[in-house]
Amino acid sequence: MKKTSLLTALLLAASWAFAGEGMWIPMLLQYNEKEMQEMGMRITADDIYSLNHSSLKDAIVLFGGGCTGEIVSDYGLLLTNHHCGYDHIQKHSSVEHDYLTNGFWAMDRSQELPCPGLSVIFLREMRDVTQKVLYNVNDDMEEKERQRLINDNIKRIIAEVEKDTPYKVSIKPYFLGNEYYLLLNEEYTDVRLVGCPPSNIGKFGGDTDNWVWPRHTGDFSIFRVYADKNGRPADYSADNVPYKPAKHLDISLKGAEEGDFAFVFGYPARTSEYLPAIAVNQEANVIDPIAVDLRGKILDIYNRYQEQDRKVRIQYASKHAGLGNGWKKWMGVTEGINHFHGVEKKRFYEESFQQWALGARNRYLYIDLLKQFDQKYKELEPYRVAYTYLSNAGLNIEIIDFAGNFNRLAQVTADTPQEEVDRMIASLRQASNEFFKDYYQPIDEEVARTMLTEYLKHQPADFRPGFLNEINNVSQYVEHLFAKSIFASQEKVNDLLDNFKPNKIKKLQKDPALQAYQSMMNFYRDEVNPQMSAINTDLARLQRLYMKGQMLMEPEKRFSPDANFTLRVTYGKVEGFKPQDGKNYRHFTTLEGIMEKENPDIYDYVVEPKLKQLYNRKDYGRYADKDGTMHVAFTASVHTTGGNSGSPILNADGQLLGLNFDRCWEGTMSDLVYDPDICRNISVDIRYVLFIIDKFAGATNLINEMTIIEN
Ligand code: ARG
Ligand code: ASP
Repeated sequence: MKKTSLLTALLLAASWAFAGEGMWIPMLLQYNEKEMQEMGMRITADDIYSLNHSSLKDAIVLFGGGCTGEIVSDYGLLLTNHHCGYDHIQKHSSVEHDYLTNGFWAMDRSQELPCPGLSVIFLREMRDVTQKVLYNVNDDMEEKERQRLINDNIKRIIAEVEKDTPYKVSIKPYFLGNEYYLLLNEEYTDVRLVGCPPSNIGKFGGDTDNWVWPRHTGDFSIFRVYADKNGRPADYSADNVPYKPAKHLDISLKGAEEGDFAFVFGYPARTSEYLPAIAVNQEANVIDPIAVDLRGKILDIYNRYQEQDRKVRIQYASKHAGLGNGWKKWMGVTEGINHFHGVEKKRFYEESFQQWALGARNRYLYIDLLKQFDQKYKELEPYRVAYTYLSNAGLNIEIIDFAGNFNRLAQVTADTPQEEVDRMIASLRQASNEFFKDYYQPIDEEVARTMLTEYLKHQPADFRPGFLNEINNVSQYVEHLFAKSIFASQEKVNDLLDNFKPNKIKKLQKDPALQAYQSMMNFYRDEVNPQMSAINTDLARLQRLYMKGQMLMEPEKRFSPDANFTLRVTYGKVEGFKPQDGKNYRHFTTLEGIMEKENPDIYDYVVEPKLKQLYNRKDYGRYADKDGTMHVAFTASVHTTGGNSGSPILNADGQLLGLNFDRCWEGTMSDLVYDPDICRNISVDIRYVLFIIDKFAGATNLINEMTIIEN
């Protein structure tokens, strides 16, 4: 990795907050318009977000509560990532219809598959309500009093607005509580699966390539939004009709060239760009390394068993992906922060902040901020560490985590209404079927031995869950746990559920797995959570003031609020990067790279025969780049984070170039410190998406509904 000298880094620090960084509020985009147009944009801020006419925002949705999607036809056709649709693709998959392995394509609307529980949310309008929310509030008042006033104000404003809108009203803090915006949302709950490629395409490279460039993942899936006859949200019904958006995205076949302006429009979940140095250091050098170390040990165990047995590989695929995604990202965060001097840059900035605070009398609120941050983060550290062990070492022991589901059943008394017990039993039966389908006890036993050993080694006896202190010998304890707990046996769990009577509760309460779970929860409830929340309340105040201070210190600078799962625009250029001396990454990959990576023996690198055929014939049609190859993915210097998956990346004319799905590993620190030289987002090229839909799947019915701009 490129290692900038400390001095260069510090000199750069003076301007590091500009240049590419920023997740902008769509309704305020007029302040960025000039810069965007200077970078090449040919449309206006008003084309992106407007209340007076249709605009690009009408095509963007929050998909399934965690990703972004975009509408690409007048019939509610929606694109998002394969990994965003994964859950629903999996739910429709069975041995007979294995859509994960083989893909799925609805050749007409009658074949589309309803997805219960899946919804999409459109933002209809946003309003700045800062003054109303902060009415009568000031920074000198008691924090509790301040929060009470704010909550009252928010309730009143929402009630007022709700009176004359059909939309769902909410108010969210921006700039760490210095500003507030009201959001009018509309949620559609009839969303159907229309198509997805086989995992060999949609997840090509799998966890091996995850977070890494060069990348060749065809990470897309297709859904359709349905509405009632008036275009309003309605629960699933055969009578519903495709939703007609005020606007759908046009698709460009021109592709993205180095240096081209590009922007991403979507729902980034969470960033923390305004933390003090001590917090960044804690995250990157204390918390993340613990989680990485623990998860790495678990992943080693998974890998070993997964390599030996095909069934186990499938059973642990999703768990592996889940643990592995954070594991790899946090490793990248630590590396990135340290190599690129993230903490030092923050310290350097803090020195100038301190000078500013001392510069005038009316800045008294800011003088002690940094000192207080140091103190509060020091206080917070042991609690965060405890929480990290609890969630990563404790609750990754599957039998203990699973037992936790039965905690409520274990509290049933003679007074609990039978209906409620029945409901509990029904949902536990489902949880239990899902659990045992993907459970392999030898893995869990080894994870338990390893995690408990780590837990005991690193957490002091007076500050850990009580059950740990009763363990004399980890191996013996684990043996006992799996021999005695009913949660190791599906038969015993079924027996409990089939013949449940309140008199069985005594036995349930003595179950060692459930006891371990309760011991961890009690520890969290009594010794971790109260202190942690109290410190976090203090920190929220410090963070709000620090943010405000920074804005006062640099009144000319355009600040962007941290991501908070609301709609944002981020922009930059299509470009590659140099992660290391002598290493130069081109901004795009092609189908050639898929063939280079091909390895029939490695699950992540199996290439679909049909794709190979198309490659051999160079049968790319109008989806080929002008260089004749099939482009698969590309990088850009656009600031993105989790939740931006599935977001459209658009060109200077606001046409769809691709779907954002990941970031490059060297720049995953961008959630804490954004560095325009190395932070890159990764998108799948829309031409590859269309090629797969058209040439690979033959779903021309879908292509025909889209608006495709050829030149
Ligand atoms: N790293 C990406 C994100 O954070 C993609 C994760 C899904 N892909 C995977 N191979 N696990 O969500
Ligand atoms: N892969 C992430 C997502 O699913 C995007 C990112 O973290 O860059 O939202």
